[in-house]
Amino acid sequence: MQSLQDKASEWSGVAAGDAFAIDDGNVFEALGGTTQPFVDLSTNFYTRVYEDEEEWFRQIFAGSKKEDAIRNQYEFLVQRMGGPQLFSQRRGHPALIARHRPFPVTHQAAERWLHHMQQAVDTTDSIDAATKTKMMYFFRHTAYFLVAGNEMTRQGHGTSCKCKHGESKPAE
Ligand code: HEM
Repeated sequence: MQSLQDKASEWSGVAAGDAFAIDDGNVFEALGGTTQPFVDLSTNFYTRVYEDEEEWFRQIFAGSKKEDAIRNQYEFLVQRMGGPQLFSQRRGHPALIARHRPFPVTHQAAERWLHHMQQAVDTTDSIDAATKTKMMYFFRHTAYFLVAGNEMTRQGHGTSCKCKHGESKPAE
């Protein structure tokens, strides 16, 4: 059976090596070692999501307050990209597939999510160009990993997967 990781690579067009280039070096430190660039990015991203003209997409987020969604995301990104374990200290293991189970994470939703994230990345000045490229590979691969996980959970399978999308950055 094709693994979630393989499906994510096939559907996203991003090889696993490119998706996890965020683990070459430490992105958090490279961006100055503060949460600010991640706060900037998540605020930019969710402002676009909550104002999306596509109602079907905006509705997916209707159960969460924008401020909470921003904090959940930036704490996860800080942690995943080499900074302090802010997300896990407050919310536990990221368990990304399980946490997305309530939502319709379809191919179409992934593309809309990525559309907003691409625009947010492009307009966040506190992130340098090389890091932007690495982040987008990670986001693209992870979005399709979640699409694959969503299909799997809807078919009644469990959610365990030894994948690196939600893990903390491996030790150097
Ligand atoms: C949370 C949808 C992709 C990481 C959420 C929430 C929704 C959602 C509706 C709840 C908002 C909140 O209360 O925090 C989607 C959809 C995606 C997608 C439709 C399309 C593929 C991603 C990707 C990542 C990600 C690619 C990581 C790179 C997270 C995290 C949370 C979250 C960390 C917070 C979970 C929590 O604290 O419980 N997502 N998401 N999502 N998402 Fe996504």
